[in-house]
Amino acid sequence: MTDQTEQDRVLIFDTTLRDGEQSPGATMTHDEKLEIAAMLDEMGVDIIEAGFPIASEGDFEAVRDIAKQAKSAVICGLARANFADIDRAWEAVSHAKRPRIHTFIGTSPLHRDITKLTQDEMVEKIAATVTHARNLCDNVQWSPMDATRTERDYLCRVVETAIKCGATTINIPDTVGYTAPRESADLIAMLLERVPGADQVIFATHCHNDLGMATANALAAVEAGARQIECTINGLGERAGNTALEEVVMALKVRNDIMPFRTGIDTRRIMAISRKVATVSGFPVQYNKAIVGKNAFAHESGIHQDGVLKNAETFEIMRPEDIGLNATNLVMGKHSGRAALRAKLKELGFDLGDNQLNDVFVRFKALADRKKEVYDDDLIALMRDSEADLDHDRVQVKFLRVICGTEAPQSADLILSIDGAEQRVTAQGDGPVDATFAAVKALVPHHAHLELYQVHAVTGGTDAQATVSVRLQEDGHIATGQASDTDTVVASAKAYVNALNRLAVRREKTRPDEAKAAV
Ligand code: KIV
Ligand code: ZN
Repeated sequence: MTDQTEQDRVLIFDTTLRDGEQSPGATMTHDEKLEIAAMLDEMGVDIIEAGFPIASEGDFEAVRDIAKQAKSAVICGLARANFADIDRAWEAVSHAKRPRIHTFIGTSPLHRDITKLTQDEMVEKIAATVTHARNLCDNVQWSPMDATRTERDYLCRVVETAIKCGATTINIPDTVGYTAPRESADLIAMLLERVPGADQVIFATHCHNDLGMATANALAAVEAGARQIECTINGLGERAGNTALEEVVMALKVRNDIMPFRTGIDTRRIMAISRKVATVSGFPVQYNKAIVGKNAFAHESGIHQDGVLKNAETFEIMRPEDIGLNATNLVMGKHSGRAALRAKLKELGFDLGDNQLNDVFVRFKALADRKKEVYDDDLIALMRDSEADLDHDRVQVKFLRVICGTEAPQSADLILSIDGAEQRVTAQGDGPVDATFAAVKALVPHHAHLELYQVHAVTGGTDAQATVSVRLQEDGHIATGQASDTDTVVASAKAYVNALNRLAVRREKTRPDEAKAAV
């Protein structure tokens, strides 16, 4: 075993709630953010970037409440390079036992062009804002956005300025996912060598995945001396996303022989948080995604199956248990009781209180009545729905009956509860789903455009549940909704309504007054 000292410790900075939430359509509610933050804290994430407090009242409140509940993680809030942003970030994170302000400015020629600042003017701005942040908080992170496309000499100059003015962590973002592993390493090595004071701060790496190299770039930066990795659960994030937490953490664990670094992450919690983030963000994990994809531990070919049965290591470089996946797939059915359901859900990463268990148990019985065998994936879909169908959702599906078949017109008779009042309508359409969506639109008028409608079976068989994903776009805001049911049309109605509720949350963030008028 490698002799590990503090030099080998890599801090994990999770930005699922800030950079991750910036993905178009990945809106999370206040309560969802608090739950995810609690899970991140429990799994051992060192720093949680909880949001961008000045962006909206909702962001501010989420960061403030996450700061209040945090047990051991440092809680960080993002701020642009101005005093108002920094003051607001401080107001939110100061409630934490261990607060951090993260301030940034775009330093590449492209960004300087936008801000119309000369190199000297930008240096002055960095000095003033970092000093201001440091006067408020003794833990300050500074980032030169688009660092990988910033002139090297100028990058050294701005990093030196930030260090002199009190920054304690210097983050080097590859904002557009442009770099490659060797360059990522060279950049960190160059800064450590050339910048006075570099040995007094922690260097962080923040990589986007536009060329599919985010994880490799982050690990290369660590080998060159970075000691903080910025990442998100499931690699959520703008465009192609960010470095995935589960990938870097497992890579460091599995290949500790060639990358002798350690993190403080309890990897057995990875699967649970991955599922949670997929549920609340509405971004399902692709089947072949490293570590957390459905197929990551599945073996289809005869040779592989035979090998794994004889010795799992033949085709598995990590054990499913290492990420919290249970090897057994105990099938539940209509005779299973509350205790078995509670135990099974706990195994899947859902630790429920009595009230929530009662609610889920009713749903489980209803599902088991319609479906002979209820598999793990059915339960995960059920949990996602019960979490999505929160009482505070303004719109909920109460009843749906459709007439469909070879003879047109197809029609949908729908009852929605809108702000607690039930409303009914019948609408026609080109097929049952079209008729159902027309009925929703008649009861909840909106001009959102349907960008994606996708159905997939959760398990096999004709009684399988269907999971439906719906993506809506309205005035540049995007929201994704998901729902499952053994009836595909019911799942479609619920997914559509789920997306509308999420769109309302998105709207509220940007136009609080209008949001109250439209759902
Ligand atoms: O990608 C980026 O440059 C960022 C900064 C705000 C750090 O997310
Ligand atoms: Zn980013």
